Amino acid sequence: MSKRYLITSALPYANGPLHIGHLAGAYLPADIYVRYLRSMGEDVVFICGSDEHGAAITIRAKKDGVEPQEIVDRYNTLIKETFEKVGVSFDIYHRTSSQLHHETAQEFFRDLHGKEEFIKQTAEQYYDEEANQFLADRYITGTCPKCNHEEAYGDQCENCGSTLSPTELIKPVSKLSGNTPVLKETTHWYLPLDKYEDWLRPWIEEGELDGKRHHRPKEWKPHVLGQCKSWLDGGLQPRAMTRDLTWGVDVPQEIEGSEGKKLYVWLDAPIGYISATRQWAEENGKDWKPYWQDEETKLVHFIGKDNIVFHCVIFPVILKANGNYILPDNVPANQFLNLEGRKISTSKNWAIWVHEFIEDFKGQPEFIDILRYYMIKVMPETRDSEFTWKGFQEANNSELVGTFANFINRVVVLTQKYYEGVIPEINSELIINCSSEEGKTSSFHAELNAIKIHLDRIGEFVHKYDFRSALKEVMNLADLGNKLLQFNAPWSLIKTDEEKTKVVMNIAVQVVEALRVAIEPFLPGTSERMSELLNLPQVENNSFKSMLAKLEKREFLIPVGHQINKPIHLFTKLKDEWVDEQIRKLEESQNKEIVFTPIKEEATFDEFQKMDIRTGTILTAEKVKKAKKLLKLTVDIGLEERTVVSGIAEFFKPEDIVGKEVLLLANLAPRKIRGVESEGMILMAENEKGELAFVSPQSGFGNGFTVR
Ligand code: MF3
Ligand code: ZN
Repeated sequence: MSKRYLITSALPYANGPLHIGHLAGAYLPADIYVRYLRSMGEDVVFICGSDEHGAAITIRAKKDGVEPQEIVDRYNTLIKETFEKVGVSFDIYHRTSSQLHHETAQEFFRDLHGKEEFIKQTAEQYYDEEANQFLADRYITGTCPKCNHEEAYGDQCENCGSTLSPTELIKPVSKLSGNTPVLKETTHWYLPLDKYEDWLRPWIEEGELDGKRHHRPKEWKPHVLGQCKSWLDGGLQPRAMTRDLTWGVDVPQEIEGSEGKKLYVWLDAPIGYISATRQWAEENGKDWKPYWQDEETKLVHFIGKDNIVFHCVIFPVILKANGNYILPDNVPANQFLNLEGRKISTSKNWAIWVHEFIEDFKGQPEFIDILRYYMIKVMPETRDSEFTWKGFQEANNSELVGTFANFINRVVVLTQKYYEGVIPEINSELIINCSSEEGKTSSFHAELNAIKIHLDRIGEFVHKYDFRSALKEVMNLADLGNKLLQFNAPWSLIKTDEEKTKVVMNIAVQVVEALRVAIEPFLPGTSERMSELLNLPQVENNSFKSMLAKLEKREFLIPVGHQINKPIHLFTKLKDEWVDEQIRKLEESQNKEIVFTPIKEEATFDEFQKMDIRTGTILTAEKVKKAKKLLKLTVDIGLEERTVVSGIAEFFKPEDIVGKEVLLLANLAPRKIRGVESEGMILMAENEKGELAFVSPQSGFGNGFTVR
């Protein structure tokens, strides 16, 4: 066991709102972990804040025609509020634009500079001659050398996930001017990552640091370790820790050559975790140092997979080079969450924005927890996963309503009915039916033990960062409750054995209480509503731990004689129409990127006159055998009937197009398609999705007339 925990979630860039992919990646898992630790009475601090530097912010500001400060102020507020509303319970949400952060980051730079950890080097970097400035990695786009994606950034390809450097891009383009940038010399401070390989490799591969085995990268998720190893194997290289920029933390001015130089955002941002901890400590009368410098602290970084190298290689190198800091015990990075079969995309607006979700379901507090529940259920812990509205509905209807709320409701209704809401006194020696297996017998104490087994498992899974399984265990506990009722049928038992019924109902209430505490890390709002229902104070620090202690001693979790309240609906079913509505909203809001085919080469009037286009009507239509796309049509063009083979079968059923008035290119040279002679071509229009539409004359116009 660790003495204390410092838990961080990646600092979001303050240049746009949060979508569900962010939440599922770095914030929800961290929140569950932290809430669980608090409930176990652990000393834990949960850190986050806005990442307010970096080119992404400046690019956004340029686009909106405002100052970067305005952008970060706007999104810092929005993001902070969004986190609060979805119950992500940071102890502090700080900002990297704060004075304290600038000082902390500069101290780090000064320290490393003093220890001669940096190499000052002059090298060529891309420069935009029109904008008169060096280009940050994010200001350069081009073709990815690994996957040929055409919009890769200078530091990363979002298509294949490769980490890149700007000079690797094929056909680089400056985002400032759209021009091809030129290479120009500039001087920067580099961190020679290769110099640290001696300890990085054994640390990552063997979990050994300074001859001690105290951190355990060996237990990291396989995909995290895999990325680290491929970095090591690819050969570490010196990395520039400064940039030629106007927005960011200044290189300390007493350092020679600092003018116009800012700290690299990936140097400054992770130090934001430290400055946030300092700010938190100051506000709460604590000492921040043990959280970062005492070996008995467990440091865990929750991030998305695009941040792995920064948290597993670069930041540890910076911390170790300083010498006073501990390294992370784990970096449980998550993979990506897709949405309705596609990658989440900010630019195409294919996303569910968390603040919009909150707004949409404002008056219905349970929606936050349905979202949390479903996102934990599909959390991309080890591989990419998918959010669908159908899945959201199913999780709610069958699990939250069917298993969870249904059990609680039955217990509350029956307790009200039989005992006016007062927990009954029991004879704990009586034998009842077991909740785990039909036909087996059990006792009050045995059932308390069964509850405890589930609760212990929840903890084990949480400690393994397996939050999906942990939540499943909570639901297994609700399942236990349902079976207890099912196998003992108190509604009939009460007619023959009131004393036994009391035992069954008393245990059922204990299960509800265990659920109220156990679900808090996952669905805090539901736990709160259950507290009202059970007429109890909310879950607080230590609740989980004291619950386990009571079970250990076979004590009641809720005492005999306690009065509970009237039933409420914790969750209600969602209809199919509701799902359709959500999907429609998503599709309507997306920015459709319409790609128009460029206008073709010039054609003369005479050339056009050569085309004999006629009005006609489709008389018959049938599928062409073994050709998925083809229909064989006969078309009446007034003077004659033509047979035409047309590639429209994917969009039109034969029976739907008979009688359709169309335009036919009648003097196209005949050709054989799949053994059928085609004597013309039906004119169609095609949109960006490849869908086809008939180009038709006005209905009733008549067959055989020419188009000119
Ligand atoms: N802003 C970065 C992103 O959204 C994450 C920064 S994490 C920190 O990808 F460690 F640098 F703070
Ligand atoms: Zn790529």
